[in-house]
Amino acid sequence: MSAPPDLPSIVSRAFDVSRKSGYVSFCRNETGRLLATLAATRTGTLAEFGTGCGVGTAWLRSGVRGDVRIVTAELDAKLADAAAEIFVDDDSVEVLAADWSTLRDQGPFSLLFLDSGTPSAVGVDSIAELVEPGGIVVLDDFVPCELWPPITGGRVDTLREQWLTDDRFTAVEVMIASDASAIIATRR
Ligand SMILES: C[S@@+](CC[C@H](N)C(=O)[O-])C[C@H]1O[C@@H](n2cnc3c(N)ncnc32)[C@H](O)[C@@H]1O
Repeated sequence: MSAPPDLPSIVSRAFDVSRKSGYVSFCRNETGRLLATLAATRTGTLAEFGTGCGVGTAWLRSGVRGDVRIVTAELDAKLADAAAEIFVDDDSVEVLAADWSTLRDQGPFSLLFLDSGTPSAVGVDSIAELVEPGGIVVLDDFVPCELWPPITGGRVDTLREQWLTDDRFTAVEVMIASDASAIIATRR
């Protein structure tokens, strides 16, 4: 046994900012490593809906190669300001203190991390046209479920069902830990 790989320095910086802000709703490292890995395959513009304190953004930034742009929107202006601090010297990342819908005209995106924590706002219909062909959507924070349709909290999880069956995407749910899964959906 050995320790897990070190965190990229930009991610450590984001954790420091989160800690200072008392913010704890950041993505897990397993999701972060998935984001970084997918970001490394991307060109163009990557987006995140729901910045929090910038941990997910930092994971995306740690993965990208070359001339890529990352835009991220956070409704809470204090959190957005804190996250912007992490990327103050980095022209490739723009943090907006705004509702995610203000990013609609900055697409189409080659990767979109849907993490605003408002499931009804991130249904396939409101998102599909924001993603370029071959573009990837990532949603996390699911509890792995072997049933179909998937169940969350005793109810059919229609959001997960929708993302996994929509004809506009080829999608898969992947376990990122024994207690957590994510959806990766690629635009056809
Ligand atoms: C789960 S946290 C984000 C964590 C972050 N993506 C990360 O990986 O560290 C969800 C964030 O979305 C923000 N949020 C909620 N509704 C939003 C909206 N309509 N537009 C932008 N941000 C929103 C919340 O204020 C909260 O900080």
